Amino acid sequence: MVRVHGALLAAGLLCLAAGQNLPDSGDFECPQSDGMFADPTNCRKFYSCVDSYPHSSLCPAGLHWHAIDKQCTYKNLAVCGPQEIEVTTTTPDPYAASACDPARCSLTPVDPAEPGCFCSKDGTRIPGDIDPKETPQMVILSLDGAVNGQNYEHYLALFNDTVYKNPNECPMRATFFVSHEYSNYQMVQDLYHKGHEIAVNSITSRQLQGQTYEEWVQEMVGMRSMLAKWANVSEFDIFGMRAPRLKPGDNRQFDVLLEHGFAWDSSIPVPPLRVPIWPYTLDYKISHECRSGGCPTSQYPGVWEIPLNSHYVQGYDGGHCPYLDQCVLFNYEPAEILTWFKEDFNRHYESNRAPYQLSFHTNWFNEANLIEGLNLFLQWLNQKDDVWFVTMTQALYWMTDPIPINQLAQLDQWDCRKRKDIPEPACNLPNTCRISFKPPKDGDPAWVPGTRYFTTCFSCPKQYPWLYDSDGDAGQPDIYESVQFKK
Ligand SMILES: *[C@@H]1O[C@H](CO)[C@@H](O)[C@H](O)[C@H]1NC(C)=O
Ligand SMILES: *[C@@H]1O[C@H](CO)[C@@H](O)[C@H](O)[C@H]1NC(C)=O
Repeated sequence: MVRVHGALLAAGLLCLAAGQNLPDSGDFECPQSDGMFADPTNCRKFYSCVDSYPHSSLCPAGLHWHAIDKQCTYKNLAVCGPQEIEVTTTTPDPYAASACDPARCSLTPVDPAEPGCFCSKDGTRIPGDIDPKETPQMVILSLDGAVNGQNYEHYLALFNDTVYKNPNECPMRATFFVSHEYSNYQMVQDLYHKGHEIAVNSITSRQLQGQTYEEWVQEMVGMRSMLAKWANVSEFDIFGMRAPRLKPGDNRQFDVLLEHGFAWDSSIPVPPLRVPIWPYTLDYKISHECRSGGCPTSQYPGVWEIPLNSHYVQGYDGGHCPYLDQCVLFNYEPAEILTWFKEDFNRHYESNRAPYQLSFHTNWFNEANLIEGLNLFLQWLNQKDDVWFVTMTQALYWMTDPIPINQLAQLDQWDCRKRKDIPEPACNLPNTCRISFKPPKDGDPAWVPGTRYFTTCFSCPKQYPWLYDSDGDAGQPDIYESVQFKK
């Protein structure tokens, strides 16, 4: 299988700096350019240094920073204050990414065969240095996990074509990060037909940080193959992936991404910042703190990361969160939820207009007041003529060729009337298959063998499709050849 994603390319630029961190970093000096370090005077306080910039954090009340284990722990267990720095001698990575070099990073490289590059010193710069007032405020909805009867009706109601529309009259569309277990592939096929973007979130939804290259291949490339087989989604339309539970898998995950022809990832959470981060390519080192762990450290030229900025409102409880259903909002009235959303959104809209992500799990749709609060917010957004609902890949089309608001009519990828090769509609009467499930290895404690239900417009497989057997034929284990050699 040969896949080429040459489509995401394009225009020129320069770098500038803005944006600071919460809370105040004072005058702490990083003892090394990267790593986590204790504060010399306050046992609760520590810094995460990224390119010698100290991002300060505080352990929750009652806990202290353990300077050796590098985590918050009980006071009596913590080793307080700065420690001697050990010089480790690991083999240096010849492809280690270095700090953003604006002079060498261009959306339109001189050699058109090279992929475009986009970075900025602190990650907050607008592509093409477009004036914020001329920059469309992109809103990216994303829905993670299995698509099935538990959530599908909610999705149909939310994406009602007559309700939320872009300034060009095209209906609001989203990116679905689909996971396999419990998914109904007829419903996935219907979403794809209607113009939603389909991306992969793994087969099993288990946490994959620390897993091997081969497990990442089976989970992510295997999921792409399942979407093609069971929901008729063209593999050429699946551009992106998201690590389950936002736990990225270090260079291994990104090796898989690059070598198997994905164009972007959206797995890396960004801690709360006053000015949000724009998506960037992985040619250079990530400019923000990586609290989730598992961020790539090698160079992946032209591969995009669409990070998840934290949602938060200063002074409100509820905390901060990359997924909205992880902020504690369920005990608020819809009107209060609207107020919270507006303030969170305005941090983007009134500063650098970095894309505003609305990322959800199905949980959000289990609470009527949350659904209503979201609808109030979407209605409010829908009155603004500079706010656009776009999918992840549509956002990257704009970023690779940034144009001001008054030229957006030229952007074919944002125009539903110019949509080509519209996928076949899903069937009306799918097959609901009752089939046996066998884990890939006998006696694997993670999965119990048994009977599973599986719904698709295609014929029923022999056994439940799973890791190493995406077509469910119980035959030879799946082999996925890489399409590109790294570096
Ligand atoms: C879409 O919205 C219209 C107008 O509000 C309503 O009449 C219709 O029932 C909705 N359709 C769905 C599928 O929710
Ligand atoms: C699958 O998609 C292809 C290409 O769009 C189409 O020709 C075919 O009819 C579709 N099959 C089903 C069962 O939807």
